[in-house]
Amino acid sequence: MNDTIRKIGVLTSGGDAPGMNAGLRAVVRSCHYYNIECIGIRRGYAGMMEGDMDPIGLRDVNRIINRGGTIIQSSRCEAFRHPEGRSKAFAKLQEWGLDALVIIGGNGSFAGAQKLNEEHGIPIVGLPGTIDNDLYGSDYTIGFDTATNTVIDAVDKLRDTARSHDRIFFVEVMGRDSGFIALKSGLATGAIAILLPEEDLSIDELVVLLERNAASGKTSSIVIVAEGDANGGAFTVAEKVKRHMPHLETRVTVLGHIQRGGSPTCADRVLASRLGVAAVEALRNGMTNVMAGIINDEVVYTPLEEVFTTVVRPSAEEFRVSKIISI
Ligand code: F6P
Repeated sequence: MNDTIRKIGVLTSGGDAPGMNAGLRAVVRSCHYYNIECIGIRRGYAGMMEGDMDPIGLRDVNRIINRGGTIIQSSRCEAFRHPEGRSKAFAKLQEWGLDALVIIGGNGSFAGAQKLNEEHGIPIVGLPGTIDNDLYGSDYTIGFDTATNTVIDAVDKLRDTARSHDRIFFVEVMGRDSGFIALKSGLATGAIAILLPEEDLSIDELVVLLERNAASGKTSSIVIVAEGDANGGAFTVAEKVKRHMPHLETRVTVLGHIQRGGSPTCADRVLASRLGVAAVEALRNGMTNVMAGIINDEVVYTPLEEVFTTVVRPSAEEFRVSKIISI
């Protein structure tokens, strides 16, 4: 057990994700449980560089387990990518007497964390916080379950209009570089096709699918398009399809940041709570530069470097299943 960890800083970094507050609450409460002072760093690395932080206690995290966003706010911080930015940040951590950090974020945040540790030696444990689910070292990331349920809810509603008007809806979901949200939500909403960066589905193939379905009597459909798909966003895909099938009545909906908001689901609250405790316990056990994740329902720790250098792909089996049953 590492008795030198007496003061831990916690921050949320990158895109906000539902469940980050539940993770923060778990970190704060487990610090209290283990007699460790907890400091909340506002606005991610941007706030760290400015020393924008304050003690965060037991009662400061009341009634946040159900709240979306992050009460300590987040940022994407360009200056922290440079050694000067990190030195400036570390000077603030020293001023505050911080012994270790818990960072709730995604790949970019962990790459920065790794550098901060290498250059300045402060122990760091990460929690996977991103709706994209694109992190190695955890079956699910905090926010993914809520985001996919938000998509499902929206697509179910769009389907009402699609059916009522015999329309094809192209729905764009988040995932700049990854198709986890697209695949999971496409499968769960019975989309006729799912376009995602990790699987090649050309416009020609999509047109064949739509024609086949029209021939079998299907008059309305949902096509899910991940924002990072190689064919372009949903507007571009719809336009290309329309060139081949001008008779189709198409509509495009970009769900955008609605996917990042809202009250976290049970799965995200529980995941974030378990990982928040796991992070503090890891620091107490002398671990550093690891991310706490859950694989097969067990807490595991993966080196940060492995997390942000390993590319993860959505399940090929789920993609195959979606193709079989989307007829
Ligand atoms: O990383 C999460 C994410 O929501 C991506 O899916 C999306 O591409 C990106 O963030 C949007 O970022 P921003 O809110 O900075 O525009």
